Amino acid sequence: MATRGGFSSRLGFIMAAAGSAVGLGNIWGFPYEVGQGGGAAFVMMYLIFCFVLCYPVMVTEIAIGRKTEKNPVGAFNALGFKKWNFVGKMGIFSGFLILSFYNVIAGWAFGYVYEMAIGNFAIADHFSEFVQDVFKVGAYGMVFMATTAFVVSKGISGGIEKAAKFLMPSLLIMILLIVGYSLTLPNAMDGIKFYLIPDFSKLSSEVIINALGQAFFSLSLGMGALITYGSYVNKKENIVSAAAFITLADVGIAVLAGMMIFPLIGFMSGGTMDGVGSGPGLIFVTLPQIFGTIGGTFGAIAGTLFFVLLCFAALTSTVSLLEVPVAYVVDEKNVRRSRAVWLVAGAIFLIGIPSLLGNGYSDFFSNFITYPGSETATDFLSFIANVANDTLLPLGGCLIVFFAAHIWKKHNLDEELSHGAPNYKGSFLQKYLNFAVGYLAPAVLGFIFIITV
Ligand code: PFF
Repeated sequence: MATRGGFSSRLGFIMAAAGSAVGLGNIWGFPYEVGQGGGAAFVMMYLIFCFVLCYPVMVTEIAIGRKTEKNPVGAFNALGFKKWNFVGKMGIFSGFLILSFYNVIAGWAFGYVYEMAIGNFAIADHFSEFVQDVFKVGAYGMVFMATTAFVVSKGISGGIEKAAKFLMPSLLIMILLIVGYSLTLPNAMDGIKFYLIPDFSKLSSEVIINALGQAFFSLSLGMGALITYGSYVNKKENIVSAAAFITLADVGIAVLAGMMIFPLIGFMSGGTMDGVGSGPGLIFVTLPQIFGTIGGTFGAIAGTLFFVLLCFAALTSTVSLLEVPVAYVVDEKNVRRSRAVWLVAGAIFLIGIPSLLGNGYSDFFSNFITYPGSETATDFLSFIANVANDTLLPLGGCLIVFFAAHIWKKHNLDEELSHGAPNYKGSFLQKYLNFAVGYLAPAVLGFIFIITV
């Protein structure tokens, strides 16, 4: 452990893993997916997937990481199943894709810090011009990627832990304050109804697949990020309870993000909820309006602070996304850490350029693909997000749990989980996890994968 560095404390690991999970996925992704997925029915599917399927995947990833102390490819090799390391390679590929578009959105959030600071709440009406100014938002993205690379190059306990411990709770407080404020606005209840009272006629296979992809993306699962973080975890750590905390924290923040956005949309639309399905721009259009209604210097301060904290939440996620390929290159290819970090970060930034251009600047990337049965074209960023989140991550998760239960074997997984959790063996949770990891998750995820492709 000492040679690779590790988390210095129990809280350090939990906060870093929760930092990986909580990010743009919760505050940007979740509300827009709920908006497009028809509201509460999507939320219900998402919650079921998080607790019933994703929690067991999370436990399994952390256990494999801690057992092997390796990156996602090295982990399969270390357990003696080299043939299975393609799952780790697929994870690293997913990480590349996700970080490439994630960094673009993080660049927008970063740009909004400045816009809020100068009190430019009217940006809500000029969002499409903002994202088309590719040199400006590209520069923001470049700074964001460089910051991520800097933190990762500092090594695991130096950078990630310290920031997460302080900033995550601050973000939570800020969100709670905004939720409190949104709920006082006229027509807030129309937003809450949309968000919390399910209309099951809205459930389609597309909504279900999106909810599953959102659950994996939001919890940072299916690509080995938590194998990598698990590799730095102490043997005394109780994995099952840490994973429960991380899942609850992540789901909690996503749910609160919805409580912040939907009442506001109720207010702005006069109760009709028009515009709720507008897609990836949703929070960038609605949030400035909240701060605008507060107005003045106070609105500007609140807006600035919010986007600063959102950027930090995004940073603790980008750091974990970059850490996965970097750990692989360092462990398996013997490249120096600092060199690996900058090389990989540079490559991912370049891969992200089409995602940057596809928001109106380039016609080709803005209308990249038209899915069968759809009348409108999908932009490059959304296309990559669909491939990575809705297909690759659940498939990765399916293969990881199948591997753990049937190739590595359940008793080995149980053994690893019982370190630091003396009462685990023989508990109800153990029985449930055995069932979920061995049968339920591989079957459901495998089935959904087959109907998707
Ligand atoms: N969970 C992050 C979010 O919700 O913003 C995104 C993410 C981070 C996905 C790390 C995957 C990952 F490995």
